[in-house]
Amino acid sequence: MRILSIETSCDETALSVVDAQKTADGRLSFSILGNVLASQIALHREYGGVFPALAKREHGKAIIPLLLEVLEQAGMKKDASEQQIIAEEVLEMLSREPEAQTALQAELATLAKPDIDLIAVTNGPGLAPALWVGVSVAKALATLWDIPVIGVNHMEGHVLSSLAPTGIQTFETVPITFPALSLLVSGGHTELVVMRAFGEYEKIGQTVDDACGEAFDKVARMLELPYPGGPEISRLAELFSTNHYPLEAKSLPSFPRPMLHSKNYDFSFSGLKTAVLYYIRDHVAMLNEIDKMAIAHEFQNAVVDVLVVKTIRAAQEYNVHDILVGGGVAQNTYLQKVLRDAATDAGFTVHFPRGDIAGDNALMIAFAGFVEWQKKEKSPDVVGTLRANGTLSL
Ligand code: KG4
Ligand code: ZN
Repeated sequence: MRILSIETSCDETALSVVDAQKTADGRLSFSILGNVLASQIALHREYGGVFPALAKREHGKAIIPLLLEVLEQAGMKKDASEQQIIAEEVLEMLSREPEAQTALQAELATLAKPDIDLIAVTNGPGLAPALWVGVSVAKALATLWDIPVIGVNHMEGHVLSSLAPTGIQTFETVPITFPALSLLVSGGHTELVVMRAFGEYEKIGQTVDDACGEAFDKVARMLELPYPGGPEISRLAELFSTNHYPLEAKSLPSFPRPMLHSKNYDFSFSGLKTAVLYYIRDHVAMLNEIDKMAIAHEFQNAVVDVLVVKTIRAAQEYNVHDILVGGGVAQNTYLQKVLRDAATDAGFTVHFPRGDIAGDNALMIAFAGFVEWQKKEKSPDVVGTLRANGTLSL
């Protein structure tokens, strides 16, 4: 089955074309035919964060050119034998996305229908105006080409992203044993999810306030670092731990590990963020580079301590063998090291996403789309009922 996937939930516009199959032993087999991504990070950096209206406009500008590019990569961009008239019904679906509407009308009238069987689109969670761009374009294309469309949960994409082995275009998912545990750490979510089978998830814990990536971004702002803050904090923390800087007369920062010992699997990061704020207020007159490094280092240690302790405890209680990590914060090398070591000691195997699909991307949406299609094949979404939902839950 050939899947066109579309992701516009936050600040990346991403599309992929994937050939997907199920193997006899229940694993999933994928061949990547095309994969493109346009990041808006440079634009949002100027404002210190993602603005939904700006994100929506940028997705609208980028999405049809990226569609043509991904079809070209997949060898599916062929001219139609004669120019088609794009039905009013199709254009109507893009009435709120003027840039995409104009581009679709101009470009797709001369394009032959590509050899695609299914469109998978992220319909939540995320920024609603941004999600709607992908969802509206997916609906318009499904109608134009008369193929089914399926809504995909962005977080299911992050769960599955660690199952793609590194560096190869055609692969079977890494073998895992069910139930497996997934730790999801992104800009909008911090969740522990038990995965009982492909497509069967039970959320066992989540953040009660800020998401983990959001805490990285907010602390980075306090340290006057650019958006997104996660990679910046990680870089400074690493510098601090590999050098021995004198902290002048100051005491080293020491931050709390919120909910480390709570009986449940929930997380909280807002108190930690406040502790950083108070430390800066009380101990730092003028932030210098060494202060920033020391704070980044202790903040990252605190976050990673909590994530690792709770993940290992959940893995023990739910008797899993495999731990799947997903979301942008999965790129944090310190988290990778500490969780790998702790998992090895406790007898678990931990899987991190390969570098190119740890952040938001369209491949993970194709993977999740295929999983969801197996469940829904007999009753696919009707184009008219598919909606974006900013707070969609796993
Ligand atoms: O999954 P993602 O790309 O987008 C969402 O769905 O939210 O996650 C983005 C988040 C941002 O908060 C960013 O600061 C964080 O992932 N991030 C990191 C690192 N790289 C990205 N956090 C910590 N360490 C990193 N190396
Ligand atoms: Zn994400």
